[in-house]
Amino acid sequence: MDSEDRLADAGYRTVPDEAGGRAGRRWWDANAAEYLDEHGAFLGPDEFCWCPEGLREADAHLLGDVTGARVLEVGSGAAQCSRWLLGHGAAQVVATDVSGGMLAAGAQYDAAAGRRTPMAQADARALPFADDSFDVAFTAFGAIPFVPDAARVHTEVARVLRPGGRWVFSVTHPLRWAFPDDPGVGGLTATRSYFDRRPYVEVGASGNVLYAEYHRTLGDHVGEVVAAGLVIDRLVEPEWPAGHDRTWGGWGPVRGERLPGTAIFVTHLPG
Ligand SMILES: C[S@@+](CC[C@H](N)C(=O)[O-])C[C@H]1O[C@@H](n2cnc3c(N)ncnc32)[C@H](O)[C@@H]1O
Repeated sequence: MDSEDRLADAGYRTVPDEAGGRAGRRWWDANAAEYLDEHGAFLGPDEFCWCPEGLREADAHLLGDVTGARVLEVGSGAAQCSRWLLGHGAAQVVATDVSGGMLAAGAQYDAAAGRRTPMAQADARALPFADDSFDVAFTAFGAIPFVPDAARVHTEVARVLRPGGRWVFSVTHPLRWAFPDDPGVGGLTATRSYFDRRPYVEVGASGNVLYAEYHRTLGDHVGEVVAAGLVIDRLVEPEWPAGHDRTWGGWGPVRGERLPGTAIFVTHLPG
């Protein structure tokens, strides 16, 4: 592929699963620095933020008591959440991401702080760990939105979790897909069908898929999680906090006042 493949088209369209699923690694490698320039300070290099609403694990406790736990993060980006967990009682943490660029940014955070966060490059659909290796697994907006076959992520996580282990993941709230990705009033009117599963895709002049983001309805998420043998304990829909005026893509106070922006699934593997 041409490394300078310029954006030629963007919209909701069906593309081959293989092309859509492969695009994520290259896109996040190319955009790691820009993404962290824009959002890194809000996320914090060693803080655990679940979503643009700013919900922090320190307040939400969605992972439960992690004291002494073996924790896996998938789609970790620069491993901010894993870094926080290492300072909050977890015995072992490993941050995994398909993008070497995002993990390299994480290594820079470590170097700046004189720390070492265990990291490994891995696609969340093929985790390089033995069965029953972890007590807790999670992701904050990692991997799942960017693959056509998220069921494989849930199956892999269920495999590497011990019986009774917890899997928590945040994604864009499925309802949002019916609305334009606009943080202002333009984002308050539904213009698409919630049931249209075509991904949002950016295509280069070469015809290659540069970026793909996948929509699943709430029912789709539930079906995939349950099919992996997991039990859903809670669905958390963080409300927009009063006084929080930061916009992030289509998230912001105008829409946050009326519509959910994030869905966080808290699940576990039966013991
Ligand atoms: C929005 S970031 C979330 C990471 C972090 N929590 C943050 O807020 O910066 C999405 C991450 O998912 C990763 N990702 C995309 N597809 C993936 C896959 N198939 N397996 C593992 N990680 C993937 C990207 O490389 C990126 O680091």
